Order: sequence, then C-alpha cells, then structure tokens
Amino acid sequence: MSPTPDVELRERVRRIPGIERLLPALEGLPPAYLVGGAVRDLLRGADAVDVDIAVEGDARSVARALAERLSAEVREHERFGTATVRAGDLGFDLATTRTEVYDEPGALPRVAAASLDEDLARRDFAINAMAVGLTGDDLGHLYDPCGGLSDLNDGVVRVLHDRSFLDDPTRLLRAVRYEVRLGFRMNSATESLARAAVVDGALRTVSGARVRDELLDLLGESQAPAGVRRMHDLGLDLALHPALDSDPDLVASASLGAAAIGADPALAALAALCAAAPAELDLWLADLHLPAAQRDSVARAARVGPRLARELRAGEHQPSQLRSLLGREPVLSLALAMAMGAPSEPILRWVTELRSVRLEISGDDLLAAGVPEGPAVGRALDETLSRKLDGLVSGRDEELETALAVAREAAR
Ligand code: CTP
Repeated sequence: MSPTPDVELRERVRRIPGIERLLPALEGLPPAYLVGGAVRDLLRGADAVDVDIAVEGDARSVARALAERLSAEVREHERFGTATVRAGDLGFDLATTRTEVYDEPGALPRVAAASLDEDLARRDFAINAMAVGLTGDDLGHLYDPCGGLSDLNDGVVRVLHDRSFLDDPTRLLRAVRYEVRLGFRMNSATESLARAAVVDGALRTVSGARVRDELLDLLGESQAPAGVRRMHDLGLDLALHPALDSDPDLVASASLGAAAIGADPALAALAALCAAAPAELDLWLADLHLPAAQRDSVARAARVGPRLARELRAGEHQPSQLRSLLGREPVLSLALAMAMGAPSEPILRWVTELRSVRLEISGDDLLAAGVPEGPAVGRALDETLSRKLDGLVSGRDEELETALAVAREAAR
C-alpha cells in the first residue's frame, strides 16, 4: 500500500454508501472527522465501512442538528456523551473528540473534551488512530499523528503508550483480532507489553461483559482458529480461565459445523473452548453475562456435544431415534457434536428435513374422538409423530387411527 494522497482518499470517502447526504448536512457545524476502524478500512480499500465520526464540539447537539437536516432518528447515549443517527441506509455514530482517564486499570474511563490529536492518541493501536476530515476543504485530509499509515503498510499492530494494555486489557483480545483478521503482527515492544500485562493479571480487572464482547468478536472472525492459537501463545486463554481448552482444530470444526446448520459460529467456538471442562467453566460463562438463551445453549452444547458425538458415531439411527437424541437440543449442541466427530449426515438430515415434520392431526382431533383430556393425548401425538418419521404412518386417517390406538392402550 503506497501513501494515499488526500485526493484519492476524498474519492474513497465519497464512495461510502449514503455519504452524499451526510457531507452537505455537516456544513456549518463544528469540524467533523471520520475516525477509527473506518479510516483503517478505507485506506485498505474496503467499500463498506462503519461510519464513526468525531466532532470538535458537542456531539449530541451536532447529532440533533444532523438528524433534523436529514430527517433522521437520533439516539443519545448518556455515558460518554455520544449519539447514533440513522436515516435509511445511512447510519453513523458521533462522539466528541476526547481524552480518557483511567482511574482504575480495566474500568471504563472518565472522558473530557479534547483536541483531535489528543483523541487519536488515546486509542488502542496506531492503525486505529487516524482520522479523515469530512468538512469543507478538509474533506479527504488524512490526520495521522501516530504513524498509523506506515503501520498499515508494514502490517503492524502497535500500542501508543506503555500503559495501554493495563488501562484497557480488552485491547489484548483486540490486538489478536486485528492480527488474525488483517494478517498483521504486534511489533516486539507491543508484544512484550501484552505478555507483561497477561502475567500481571490485567484481564482480572475487566468485567465479564467487556471480555464477552471482545472474545465473541474474535471468535466470530473467519480466522478464529488462528486467533485461538495466538491467544494460547500469549497465555490469554489461561488468563481468562485455566480450564479453557484452546484447541484451534476444534474451534475450526465447531465454527464450520455451526455455519452448516445455521448456528452462530462465534458461540459454537465459545462452546468448543468450554467443552473440555464444562462444569468448571459454568461460573465463568455466567460471568460473561450473555443473554440467558445464549448462555444456556453454550453451556448445554459444551456439556452434551461430546456425548451426542459418541452416540451418533456408535451406529445408524432411525429418524425417531434422531428425534429423541436431538429434538430438544439447541442447534449449538449439534454443531459441537459435529465438531467432535459425529457423522454430519444424520445431523444435516435432522436439521434440513426431519425437524420440521409435523402431524396433520392435533390434540383437538383426539378430544373430538372421545379421548379424555390428560397426558395420554400428548403421549399419543408424540408416538404417532415418531412412527410418521420412521415411515410407518402416513396421511391424516392413519395418523388419527394410530394416535387413538396409542391413547386407548395408555388408558388400559
Ligand atoms: N477503541 C480503543 N480502545 C478500545 C476500543 C476501541 O481505542 N478498547 C477505539 C479504536 O480507535 C477503534 C474505535 O475506538 O478503532 C472504534 O472501536 P470499535 O468499533 O470497537 O472498532 P472498529 O475499529 O471501528 O471496528 P472493528 O474493529 O470491528 O473493525
């Protein structure tokens, strides 16, 4: 990548979807800049970027002015004085250029308005610490006080000061994510600081929810297995929890299995990390504060995935047996079972074909035929569905006949 002149950068900014509406709306407001990952990605030639804007002024009043000019919706965020604006296909976040002061390592920082240069200097890595002017003659001008462009050219992830990983240890996971996503590498000073922060127990100072966000972002990368290998190399996995099993091959298969059956690859990778010691990791998992349904399915997948894999490997299964085995499992369990060596054919058959098979009759039909209300109704329907799956029953009449016979049998 050669140095990009402002003219070229201006053209790239102009190609951002929806930007043709935003640029005129910014005129007359305080100076505004595209910042962070958007600049990194534009310089790397990406078409679509997440638009993060920093303004040298009050972000929330600028957001309100823009929302009015664009007939857009605005959501203001109290904590850091930021705002999100959405107008059709155009959505962007606005923040005031600011410094951050970390009262305690790992805690969220106190923020105060500051210059653009100070705002860039508080960021995680030089490649994320560039800005591009968006207003007037400044449109397309690159601000690069920390040497981000040269790091982009050299493939380097570099922190901007020695306390960076201690102030914000989530940056340890972010560094690995950028390494694997971009094919970059920390420079040796950054890697030494990362290793020292891990040894110092920096990650213990971060809330589970912040670890969750960064860990799932890393595990959601297509290069997640390389990320897990690198986490292990840096001691990050053990620092998160000594029982985590960072097996890159298992993570790769879990993500692939998940993609094949419509489960979330990042959650499947998380379940893979937990599969060697699910009971020991239960509290750690709870501390990540995933939404309850996600937490339950990750924990369950880690617990039952290995057993499902064993049972499915043991021999052929009738459709009704697949139903008993898999019918109540979240798809994540199936992804993990595949990753742990279950044959894919019965799982794919269950997911794509068998799982959606339904009876033509319902409980009402049984009640109308004189079966008394009670558990026998559910059991009869259940058994009939199993027989239908196995090809022993077909059509409404046979279903009703079978279900009635089962219900009568149960009543005797
Ligand atoms: N940032 C930071 N320290 C963090 C998180 C974020 O300095 N712990 C800064 C970086 O400059 C980053 C920007 O805030 O570029 C926006 O953060 P985020 O949206 O997480 O990253 P992006 O680079 O925009 O997006 P992504 O990594 O997903 O490509």
